[in-house]
Amino acid sequence: MTLRFLFLSIVLVISSCNTSRFVDGVSQAGVMADKAMVVSAHPEASKVGADILRQGGNAWDAAIAIQFALAVVYPEAGNIGGGGFAVFRASDGSVGTLDFRERAPLAADKDMYLDQNGEVISRLSLEGSLAAGVPGSVDGMVKLYDKFGSMPWSKLVQPAVDLAGKGFILTERGARVINSRLEAIRENNDHPTAFTVVEQWRAGDRLIQTELSRTLARIGDLGRAGFYEGETAEMIVKEMTRTNGIISMEDLASYESSWRQPLRGMYRGYEVISMPPPSSGGVALIQMLKSIADYPVGKYGHNAFRTVQLMTEIEKRVYADRATYLGDPDYFPVPIDMLVSDEYLNERMADIRLSLPTPSNEIKEGKVEIIESVETTHFSVVDADRNAVSITTTINSYFGNKVVVEGAGFFLNNQMDDFSVKPGVPNQFGLVGAEANAIRPGKRMLSSMTPTIVASGEDLFMVVGSPGGSTIITSVFQTILNVVDFEMGMQEAVNAKRVHHQWLPDRIILEDDALVRRVDRRLRRIGHEMESRGIIGRVDAILVRPDGKLEGGADPRGDDTAIGF
Ligand code: DON
Repeated sequence: MTLRFLFLSIVLVISSCNTSRFVDGVSQAGVMADKAMVVSAHPEASKVGADILRQGGNAWDAAIAIQFALAVVYPEAGNIGGGGFAVFRASDGSVGTLDFRERAPLAADKDMYLDQNGEVISRLSLEGSLAAGVPGSVDGMVKLYDKFGSMPWSKLVQPAVDLAGKGFILTERGARVINSRLEAIRENNDHPTAFTVVEQWRAGDRLIQTELSRTLARIGDLGRAGFYEGETAEMIVKEMTRTNGIISMEDLASYESSWRQPLRGMYRGYEVISMPPPSSGGVALIQMLKSIADYPVGKYGHNAFRTVQLMTEIEKRVYADRATYLGDPDYFPVPIDMLVSDEYLNERMADIRLSLPTPSNEIKEGKVEIIESVETTHFSVVDADRNAVSITTTINSYFGNKVVVEGAGFFLNNQMDDFSVKPGVPNQFGLVGAEANAIRPGKRMLSSMTPTIVASGEDLFMVVGSPGGSTIITSVFQTILNVVDFEMGMQEAVNAKRVHHQWLPDRIILEDDALVRRVDRRLRRIGHEMESRGIIGRVDAILVRPDGKLEGGADPRGDDTAIGF
């Protein structure tokens, strides 16, 4: 063997290792594409989005089609009965956000979930019609379309109409998730639903949703009026009347999503563009990034002792701020500028020690419990012109309030639980709140959703977001650190194990094997309580690589799928 041949063989082996690296059977290399990319929680929804892009649709067209497709193929979180947030950046660098978060019905009351003694009535804000906020998703899609859409509206809704009417094949995960909530769906619906026609679902079964298909067809034909007026609206209100809900025709007719100024902050030379209140996501993310920028975490290493300790201490302080200061800015004066200012953050983080935790009760008091198994969904789109759309959308818990609107075939949200139903009493994510996030008629409940776009100078750099309730913010935070500080590619950054702290309860939550034993032991030794959690977040993201190619990062924690071309 000549020396030259030997050298070439070594180079070949090394480069093939780089492009097809697998860790625990999971690929570390994402889907690559030259032109355009979509990443969503379901293969069928990603296919719908990629088809729209291939037909010449722009990123907004694709996002609208994906939102409707997810309402069919991902009924646990995709929705027309919920709400969400869109953050977008056009190819010319202009940015914007749309808030299509649900609103409290006009008949809502601050104490609507309390009994005569002022105690919280268990599960009232979580299950059944009273848990639902006025849905915003359809109005949101219509508003995005009116401003940015380029293909005929009906063409964007039609793939969802077809998927619902003709049915689609359930994945193993899809079947398992429906089965896990079938009893609650049966309990909350005294009429037949598409989900309750069988005892148990299996992978490979076809789920047909005829009523949903008709509702989507009305939206395809009539736009906003196909949901907020006429037949669909009447079905929603009839459902309310039968089951003690309070959403009225007036609530539906008056629902409006809101354009809001994106929140922007710098992190190590990159510009982070994210969602302002009523999501806490952008404020909290920028607080965390700015606070950690003072430390060389790249040198400490991914999930190293100092990195985890530092993230934890920053997160405690940020989540404590969230509980007190954040809510719907239309109803409460949220001090956004102060919270993300350098002066404030310098002082707020000044007592952090790398060797010792500050107990959460020294930051602020409260007792909380976390309930798991909740669902939201995020998707990211980049089109051939490099317009980017980042949308996180939700009905809150798996299958929302579990109520399928009779005749209309879709689940309503249980987003009212995101309000602080009583000061200091935790919601299902263990999050506490106060006056800033108290219930008021028409007000939007505080969210953690963090659809985000990162730019590098004039250029798009990353589109990112996640579900996961209170863990959304820290999942997005870690994904950005993974790329910027730990120099991972998109897929690797998405795969990497996550950890989380939210001030209360005072414990670090971690995915299995997130930390090597030595780091785990050391964190316990300095006084941290640790709790394992199956998975944290499900990030679907897109990175523009230095060679200009797009890398999709689809989270292996679910059926998430990246498709690019
Ligand atoms: O808006 C929020 O913060 C929550 N309703 C999100 C719910 C969620 O992420 C559930 N997901 N896994």
